[in-house]
Parts: sequence; structure tokens; C-alpha cells
Amino acid sequence: MPETMSHAVGNQISKSEEIRAAIDAIVAQVGQYNSTITDARPPQEGLVAEYQELMDRAAAVKGRPLLYPMLGSGAGNGPLVELGDGSVKWDMICGIGVHFFGHGHPELIRASLQASTQDVVKHGNLQSNFEAYRFAELMVSLAKRNSKLTQCFVTTSGAVANESALKVCYQKHAPASRVIAFKDCFMGRTITMAQLGDSAGGRDGIPLSTQVDYMPFWTEDNIAKAGGEAQFIERSCELLQEYITRYPKQHACFIFELIQGEGGFNVAPREYFVALMDMCKANSIAVWDDEIQCFGRTGEMFAYETLDLGDYVDVFCVGKMTQACATLYTDEYAPKPGLLSGTFTGSSQDFAAGNKILEMLRGGDLYGNTGKIAKHHALFRKHVAALAAKHPDWFPAVKGQSELSGGIGGMMKMSPFGGDQKKVIAACKACFDEGVVLFWCGHGPYHVRMLPPIPVMEESHWPKIFECIERAFAKVAS
Ligand SMILES: Cc1ncc(COP(=O)(O)O)c(C=O)c1O
Repeated sequence: MPETMSHAVGNQISKSEEIRAAIDAIVAQVGQYNSTITDARPPQEGLVAEYQELMDRAAAVKGRPLLYPMLGSGAGNGPLVELGDGSVKWDMICGIGVHFFGHGHPELIRASLQASTQDVVKHGNLQSNFEAYRFAELMVSLAKRNSKLTQCFVTTSGAVANESALKVCYQKHAPASRVIAFKDCFMGRTITMAQLGDSAGGRDGIPLSTQVDYMPFWTEDNIAKAGGEAQFIERSCELLQEYITRYPKQHACFIFELIQGEGGFNVAPREYFVALMDMCKANSIAVWDDEIQCFGRTGEMFAYETLDLGDYVDVFCVGKMTQACATLYTDEYAPKPGLLSGTFTGSSQDFAAGNKILEMLRGGDLYGNTGKIAKHHALFRKHVAALAAKHPDWFPAVKGQSELSGGIGGMMKMSPFGGDQKKVIAACKACFDEGVVLFWCGHGPYHVRMLPPIPVMEESHWPKIFECIERAFAKVAS
């Protein structure tokens, strides 16, 4: 709050010792309850029927059963989440990457409680308290350290942040209307993002209005087919040139999902992106970096920092773990008034928790070669290797892939059962029953993926998690 506002009533509420003491008391009490959750456990018998009733109601109103029979009770402790039937599970997917600081984090409960004292729940582009702009300021100040991003538009979902990014690119390069994207990318579920995303099921029945030219992503299979890494880069550049020559000045942007999420936790080296981004720069094609799933999880806070690509990025999107979603752009890409707006930017809690999360990411011991993310990634791989050594028949060779585990940092994947779709999905569901929530990714081969709450994880958690996984895989194998 600026000094001039120190007598405002809002400032008195936010500085009130009485309110602070009451919030401290709530945080402590909730923490005491949550601290009794210490390991995975099965449902409590007396709650099973009641829980099933909730599940049936949810399925009836949604029109189909929930993917996992999972409704939280409102309690949890770090990587452990309690469900409404009293069962406790290791949450290794965190709502597909939303709860990076796990369950029941006292600082996030505190931030949400403080935010709840505000006069409104939601903020918007016309009427807003300052937290939305504090979030935008913090995002920009972090982004600016290693990029030219200077401005930030806050919004309510990843897909809408991407829509804003695409509008910014279109406006800057009007009348260019085509988009370049990678095979297997995922951008969200609006009508346009479903067209950019490379999944037939995601655009089934949707009229196509956006012209997309697809580029191959970096995979062992593609490299082998091309005859080597250098040859693959060369061929990809030739393909990009072909698109540019076929449609001169018609491409507004190339959407770079630097680490592919839904597409299979695929990772590419810097030189591949540099070769393609140099061509974008030479042809006035915006470099749009979607880090909605990978932000915060790679070796550095931004994936463009991990890959040293910050200088290339024109437009950037973030969401999921930041609670509030945002589109950032350079001065050069700043949109004209009227292009971006909307009723909501987010709720008081989104911004308060988002700000706290950004501060904790900045101040923590997560990043770098010796950071917590690198340490837990190595532990994950070690446990997959041990599981595969114990049960080699569960890990037959995967076509076009030499490693059984992969991903980067806090995006972890393993490829059991030869990457077979049915078996991998069955394995994920069996893991849920055995006490670990995780998910699948890829379009063939399929992988078991994790987006674990690394800041609240300890080394001792991994053996327990892999015990559940071993029991689950045994069921599928038999
Ligand atoms: C890379 C990427 N972009 C965009 C989105 C869409 O975000 P949201 O589901 O918040 O709309 C996702 C969601 O999974 C994503 O992984």
C-alpha cells in the first residue's frame, strides 16, 4: 500500500493486529488438523457409501463419471491429499500442475485468508484492487531478468492467456493469419486453441477456422529417421522455409511449447529452438512461448532461462502453478487499447496466493544444478531404474525411445508396458487405487507422468510412492 493510502480503511483492515492474530490462530489450528495426515491410507469404511453418493451426483450433473473417483475433503499435508471418503493419497499430479506447493500449505492458507477480508471476491479490468497489478508487476520483474518482456495482461485461464497471446501476435503482424506449431502441442480448449493443439479428439466436431502449419518436435525417432541430430535440424529448417515460401508474410507467430506437456513431456535442446527462432526473427514471425505447464518446474524459473532463449521471446504465457494466468509481451508487441480485456482478471485469493507462490519460487532452493528440483528429478529416475531392474517384463522396449524415464526437472515421466495406451491408462488408474494420483501423457508412445509438489517433498517420500506404484503395475501386468 502506498504511504498516501495509510489512512484508508482498506489499509487499516490489512494492517489490523486483531485480524492478523485471528488469521494466525486459524492457520495454526488448520495446520494442527492437517499435520495428522502422515501417509497414504484406504477409505474409511463408514464413509464409503456417502462418498459414492457424492460421486454419483457429480457424475449425474457432469453427464459422465469423473476420470478418477476423486473429491477432496478439504484437508491435506504437503504431497498428501485427503479425499472425502477419508482415504489419503500421494498427489503426484496436483490437479495437472496447479498445486506445486502441495496441500494445506500454511503460507497459502494465510494469503487466502488475508485476501478474504477484502471487499470483493473477484477483480476485473474495470474494477480492481492492487493485488492483480502486484501479481503482474512481480511476473514482469521476474521475467525481465532474462528476457525483453515488459508488460503483462492478467486473465482467468491458460487457454484465455493463450488467446490473448495469439491476438497480440495477429495484431502486430496483421494481416498475417497463419500459425506455426509443433506436432503434439497442447494449447488449451477454446475453439482456436483446440485447433492449434495437435490432438484430433480435442477438435472433433469443431469447424476449422485457423490455418496451422505443423513442425516436427525433437524425438529420438525423428532424429533417427533424419540420420542424426544435425540432419534433423537441417530438415526442420528446410520444412519451415517451405512453409514461409509457400505462404509469404502470412505467418503471425510460431507457438513454442518449449517443454511439451500433454504431448509427452518431450524436451528439445537449445540448438533446435535457436535454429527455428532465428528463422522466425528473419521473417517477422513472433516467437510465442507457452510455459503454462512448464513454468517453475525446469532447472530455472522460466523454461526460456533453462534453455537460454529469453532474448528470442516476444510473447509469453503462464498459468497453472501461479494460480492467476497471464500473457506477457515486449514493448514491441504491446497491443492497442481495446484488444485485450474481460470482466474478470481473477479472485483476491488467486492474486494473494499467486504473489506468495512467486515469492517462494524466487526465494527458495529449487533451481540450479544443486537445487531441489534437480535432486528430486534424479531420485525419480533412480526409483524408475530400480523398479525396471526388479521387473524387467513391465518395461519392454518402447518403439523409438531408448530411455525408460524422462522429462525435465519437475516434469517426470516413465514409460512402462511398452508405452501401450490401454495399459498405461490402466496403470495410472491402478496407481490411484493403490494410493498415488498421477496421470498419463503422450500420443503414442504413452507415458505415466508426474508433476509433483517438489517444494514440499522429501527424499523419504519416494520409496513409499514407488511401493504403491509397484503394487499397481503388478495388477496391470497380471
Ligand atoms: C502448455 C499448456 N498450454 C495451455 C494450457 C491450457 O490451460 P488451461 O487449462 O488453464 O486453460 C495447458 C493446460 O494443460 C497447457 O498444458
